[in-house]
Amino acid sequence: MINSNTSLFGLFGNPVAHSLSPVMHNRAFKETGYNALYLAFDIVDLSIAVKGIRALNMKGISVTVPYKVAVMEFLDVHDDAAVKVGAVNTIANQNGKLIGYNTDCHGAIKALTAKTTVKDKDVAVIGAGGAARAIGTGIVLAGGKLTIYNRSTVNGERLASDLDSEFRLLSEFGRSECQILINTTPVGMTPNREAIPVKSTALNKEMVVMDIVYNPLKTMLLKAAEERGAETIDGVGMFVNQGALQFELWTGQKAPIDVMRSVVLDALRS
Ligand code: ATR
Repeated sequence: MINSNTSLFGLFGNPVAHSLSPVMHNRAFKETGYNALYLAFDIVDLSIAVKGIRALNMKGISVTVPYKVAVMEFLDVHDDAAVKVGAVNTIANQNGKLIGYNTDCHGAIKALTAKTTVKDKDVAVIGAGGAARAIGTGIVLAGGKLTIYNRSTVNGERLASDLDSEFRLLSEFGRSECQILINTTPVGMTPNREAIPVKSTALNKEMVVMDIVYNPLKTMLLKAAEERGAETIDGVGMFVNQGALQFELWTGQKAPIDVMRSVVLDALRS
């Protein structure tokens, strides 16, 4: 029940209309009996919006495209991962102090470590955009041996050099082995459901294959990986894990992760 003690949380982005964060977080609040409400905001002026967090004493904010980098200058402190990634997807308001976190980075690792260890593993990340930067940073922090595979050399080399890791052209994937493969590109996303970022013959049963695309849930990549006997992790895995870490930062309580996953799956199906 919304009353005068209800805390306000939200999502800052533009556009936010298709985000699954509101259904996920509101369900988590309900499940745990935490008196809070989470709304999505299409932000037109970021600096004023952050002032609004302080003015209204909002307790926590998720930040999404296009503000993950731009928001950093308006916050008071950042945690290590946010600084290393150079982007913030989570703000926690601790007694008026706004702290920036990056739960994309830790959420990806949490989704992975539910299925495999990361330390000393050969990890191939496909793509060199913002998602690859967050996940690649998580891999390096977790002690994985990272190689960035990208379509274009300039972006791939830049990210690999920032993360002290290797770069290879995406077209060369398959000539080397990896134990963990993570797709961070939109290849395979609706409407291009038949697309796959690497040849299916390059996949094998020793691999753990993760896709951050969650529409469709079972991408061509995950289908091919499954057919070859590999362990797979779908895009909802990372999304829900980053959200669960947000919930824990904001409330200090353990996130009801199974409920969060099931409400997101329901929303995707409907
Ligand atoms: P995000 O913030 O979600 O990571 P992004 O910053 O736009 O999105 O990055 C998208 C990544 O997917 C880029 O690395 C892009 O490759 P380039 O650096 O060569 O542009 C990659 N990408 C997008 N479409 C692709 C495609 N059809 N095939 C291969 N890679 C693709």
